[in-house]
Amino acid sequence: MKILIVGPGNVGKELASQARVSGHEISFFGRGDNKCEFRGRAAKCDVVCITIPTMGRGEEEIFFTTESREEGKPVVLSAKAAMAYRFDEIVSHLPHMSISTIVGGASGMLHLITMPSIGLFKIVGIVNGTINFLLSRVAEGVPWEQALEEAVKKQLTEGGSGLEEVFRREIRDTVLKAACIVNLARLFPESMVTPDEFTCQKLGKKEILRLFEARQYRLVVRIVRQTRAQTPFIPHLFHLWREGWSIIGEFEKPNPEEFPHGVPKDEQNMLAVWNHAGRSEFCGIGAGARPTAAMMLREAEQQFFARQMY
Ligand SMILES: NC(=O)c1ccc[n+]([C@@H]2O[C@H](COP(=O)([O-])OP(=O)(O)OC[C@H]3O[C@@H](n4cnc5c(N)ncnc54)[C@H](OP(=O)(O)O)[C@@H]3O)[C@@H](O)[C@H]2O)c1
Repeated sequence: MKILIVGPGNVGKELASQARVSGHEISFFGRGDNKCEFRGRAAKCDVVCITIPTMGRGEEEIFFTTESREEGKPVVLSAKAAMAYRFDEIVSHLPHMSISTIVGGASGMLHLITMPSIGLFKIVGIVNGTINFLLSRVAEGVPWEQALEEAVKKQLTEGGSGLEEVFRREIRDTVLKAACIVNLARLFPESMVTPDEFTCQKLGKKEILRLFEARQYRLVVRIVRQTRAQTPFIPHLFHLWREGWSIIGEFEKPNPEEFPHGVPKDEQNMLAVWNHAGRSEFCGIGAGARPTAAMMLREAEQQFFARQMY
């Protein structure tokens, strides 16, 4: 299989090395390459894997996806800005795309959301591997400075800009993921949500240190169908009330009824849905270049073999 990797960074390079071991042929398209030549490059490959940073409102993701699809190529995407901000422009390509790593890394948990669900009324998740890693390591007794160093070593974050900046970036990432989940679950079939619609609070260093001291908090995203009017002014880390649904991100002590199998540790992510069939849960490794690349390679192979067969 010939794979064109757009964005030769941590995930892209790791994907290339795993794919070469499996005997696939790799080429890269980087920031310095001429975008006018992209379509011709896409035409020569079997699958396009897009591993560019999650930037802006997904303009670049949309460009590389639509150009690849114009050439009839399946796309494996790990960036999440397009799904969060421009879902209406990308939704028609979804049948020929694999996107499971945009939320939940290698856990595969997004399948819970993309499968048709009858009577969905609640989704609860821990979807940011970096914050979960920091909070759970500190809860184990590791000083936060050491936990941050460990997260940098594992390439979960860049870290250089300090604790507040790491939390600011990762909270934004969580808002984007919440928007992706809402859009992919088709909670509002007539429209999409964007991260701009969420009301978000800023956290200062003092508040972050207090979270560490409490040793029991996790960043939980909760999406609930409301049966009665709620007062929409309780301050949350981020929230959006819309058409009978509340979408909330909060640092809180996880409720054992929502986490009956325990709370995920380190960079593990978890997603649970409640519908007419009861409760279903996916848990797994949610961040890190190596597992993310492994999942993307699997998705590229699936796309390739599906096209060979039909
Ligand atoms: N790392 C993880 O654990 C993980 C997990 C799940 C999903 N993801 C997603 O996967 C994506 C890649 O993550 P990463 O950690 O590999 O990021 P990264 O190390 O920053 O790599 C991104 C690469 O894309 C290149 N690039 C930027 N803009 C481009 C453009 N317009 N055209 C072509 N190449 C471009 C960058 O080049 P420059 O160096 O020149 O900027 C860099 O080589 C992100 O969207 C992230 O959200 C990551």
